Amino acid sequence: MESQEIIDACMRHTLFSWSARSKVSPLPIVKAQGVYLYGANGEKWIDFNSQLMSVNIGHSHPKVVQAMKDAADGLIYAGPSAATPARAELAKLLASIMPAPLHTFFFTLGGAEANENAIKLARQKTGRFKILSRYRSYHGATHAAMQMTGDPRRWGSEPGAPGFIRVMDPNPYQYSFGTTDEEIVANNLTYLEEIIQYENPNQIAAMFIETVTGTNGILAPPKGYLKGLRALLDKYGILLVCDEVMAGFGRTGKLFAFQHEDIIPDMVTMAKGLTSSYVPLGAVAMKDEIAKYFDENVFLGGLTYNAHPFACSVAVAAVKTLIEEGMVENAQKMGEVLKEELNKLKAKHPSIKTFRSIGLFAMVDLQKDSKGTPLAPYNGSHPAMAEFMGYLKKNGLFTVNHWGSFMCNPPLCITKDELLEGLAIIDKALEITDRVVLEA
Ligand SMILES: Cc1ncc(COP(=O)(O)O)c(C=O)c1O
Repeated sequence: MESQEIIDACMRHTLFSWSARSKVSPLPIVKAQGVYLYGANGEKWIDFNSQLMSVNIGHSHPKVVQAMKDAADGLIYAGPSAATPARAELAKLLASIMPAPLHTFFFTLGGAEANENAIKLARQKTGRFKILSRYRSYHGATHAAMQMTGDPRRWGSEPGAPGFIRVMDPNPYQYSFGTTDEEIVANNLTYLEEIIQYENPNQIAAMFIETVTGTNGILAPPKGYLKGLRALLDKYGILLVCDEVMAGFGRTGKLFAFQHEDIIPDMVTMAKGLTSSYVPLGAVAMKDEIAKYFDENVFLGGLTYNAHPFACSVAVAAVKTLIEEGMVENAQKMGEVLKEELNKLKAKHPSIKTFRSIGLFAMVDLQKDSKGTPLAPYNGSHPAMAEFMGYLKKNGLFTVNHWGSFMCNPPLCITKDELLEGLAIIDKALEITDRVVLEA
């Protein structure tokens, strides 16, 4: 099929996530290799968002492709009650890379189902039903995961289920808890403790956080927050669940983002980088003491594709490749280059308000005047943003924007030359948004 034929058929017969059908402008991708995407008519784009911040090892890695072929020759599917070599191997591998006692796993289809099942585990284990989460968050599109989600994607799923309490992040969109990390952490945790009192700590099962918030701003926690939060939740017997669906598997320059601050969550949810999205798979990692509760108590959860053997085999190959090829270290190293280059772009382009980055996880905020007014309002758009994104696409770069900000989250195998190639396209595109500031 030609590029246009692919686009037309997809637009006529399918729905796209979070989009009005007439407004989508999909890339007609027929092949992908390393950090590049290819179209049916010979188009080529550098992938500056790892598709959905998820193809961490890069596209079509030959080792993983071979492992997939081998897995297809072996046991493709067995029901969730079966013990299979792939399930055993993946569980042992994850237990070897995660700190003790996070050594028991429940495998799911993706990130949302990992969070749904973490909610079930937390409620059953604690006998409490309320769940805390933060406003600047996304936890998935299924029912309970949507209720935890703070961003506007939740609005279409309301009214939701009772028992979900959303609180302000340490870095809310407009409000400020202070100027130094110390002050922000202290004030935010004081506020949080007050909410915990109002809601009755004896009814709160768990708090879910994106350890480093993804789509809602690439927000690394202020120094001391994770430790302080851990201690506060411990005081009330509330479980801490780190959603590392996006931040996990090397994205931030550590294998898991909670390792930046030396804490151990009670549960960690993961997906995306677990298979680098070669096939769908998610997981909940839980402390052994949580798993122990289910030695005698029935876990009231299940999925037809729980511990799917083919998906587990792919995850083993993807995680081994990520680690053995030093991609976590590369994310850290290339993250420094990215930061340096984004600083240069910020100095050159008046439309860059600021950027945040940690490893190969970065977001650039654009402004429409030198006073720092966001180029697009909260949950809004601006014609120059659309033109900017159109320029990137036309000139060989794929990424996504979030209102008046855009992402730089390439695969973790990216080289310096490839990084500079992508940033050169962005450099040119920023002339479009600069014009808005110069004319303001
Ligand atoms: C932090 C986070 N949690 C959960 C999810 C949901 O994962 P999935 O789309 O695999 O259900 C996402 C997806 O982007 C995510 O970024």
